[in-house]
Amino acid sequence: MKLAIVGGGSTYTPELIDGFIRLQKELPIEELVLVDTDQTRLDLVGGMARRMFARGGHPGRLTTTSDLVAGVSDADAVLVQLRVGGQDAREQDESWPHDVDCIGQETTGPGGLAKALRTVPVVLRIADVVRAHAKPDAWIVDFTNPVGIVTRALLQAGHRAVGLCNVAIGFQRRFAAEAGVEADRVTLAHVGLNHLTWERGVFVDGVDTLPRALETRLGELADEVELAPALLAQLGVIPSYYLRYYYAHDEVLHDQKHAATRAQEVRAIEHELLAIYADAAVDTKPEILERRGGAFYSEAAIELLIAIRGGTDLPRVVNLRNDGVLPFLPDDHVIEVPARHVGGRFVAEPVAALPDDITGLISAVAGYERLALDAALHGGRDRVLRAMRAHPLVLQHERAEKLTDLLLTANSRFLEWA
Ligand code: G6P
Ligand code: MN
Repeated sequence: MKLAIVGGGSTYTPELIDGFIRLQKELPIEELVLVDTDQTRLDLVGGMARRMFARGGHPGRLTTTSDLVAGVSDADAVLVQLRVGGQDAREQDESWPHDVDCIGQETTGPGGLAKALRTVPVVLRIADVVRAHAKPDAWIVDFTNPVGIVTRALLQAGHRAVGLCNVAIGFQRRFAAEAGVEADRVTLAHVGLNHLTWERGVFVDGVDTLPRALETRLGELADEVELAPALLAQLGVIPSYYLRYYYAHDEVLHDQKHAATRAQEVRAIEHELLAIYADAAVDTKPEILERRGGAFYSEAAIELLIAIRGGTDLPRVVNLRNDGVLPFLPDDHVIEVPARHVGGRFVAEPVAALPDDITGLISAVAGYERLALDAALHGGRDRVLRAMRAHPLVLQHERAEKLTDLLLTANSRFLEWA
């Protein structure tokens, strides 16, 4: 197969390359193209990737290009993993919400709205090029955040797309290690919207081990997601780490105000990573890549590509159209649940009815996401304000007005209409 990675100059790419090498039998790649607008990154990451392929005995041809058309031409699948504005724009998303005592985060809350506005038009333009030049049945696998909103934009525009995140696979791999079993023996009852999910069951060979884990390892499980043990005990589920921004908003805000932003941390890690990638003697994934948030991203992407090629009927957690799975959301909303690839499309596993506190939060955030996509597609301060106010972490009108001004000031160079 030919696989193109748009945003291939990302410092994450060696994580993917490492997976392609380890799983080369399961996913035979004849041609891998790294596509990026940043030539310097492309040279550094491309060089590193080539050395890794050589060392790992991967027979695939690896090329780099900044020409999107050439890169995606005749591709069987296109992975999109980009950050419009890079860490500088992210640093802004993580900072200005603090002016009105809101958390600063790149996918959740006001910062996530800014990211959606910057990103949706760029990804849609890329997708049009994919439609015109890749194989007719090529899939777009979107790892670009905010994944729920971006995937819905792609689906609405008629693209063959599926959204990917590594939160679920992180839980699955940790539970498999804890149980001492192969990962494929563990399936999750994972439900929600991207970066707003809960694990409601952890099945090892079909038996739910979550109730017992919550009894015997409550403190440890709560620590992993930085939430109060009493919260997990009462809900009887494990919220993802991103639920901290809701269930522990004020604590997180306090911590954020007294610490460096994640963008600053990531910039320092990337500086070290790029120096390593520039070293012709290095041909394996550097350990410090673990300090980035992409754990198991390569395995999640590869499992998904294998499913798309018909190589497994195991359920994989993806972002896809709701179509009645969560009956309280519109059919065209994008949700994050386990799904199987059957007959050329992803079909979600059935989801048991959710409790009112969880449906309430999902509904509120889904309402925000719909307004955010409307603002990203059509522009205008009014639409931005409406989406901003709809976010449950904002809600107050005056605060939404201020946040809208802050967002527009920080992002004017990215927004064609502003
Ligand atoms: C997790 C999330 C991704 C996000 C990443 C950020 O992996 O699932 O959606 O992009 O964290 O990691 P970083 O190292 O950039 O903070
Ligand atoms: Mn994610």
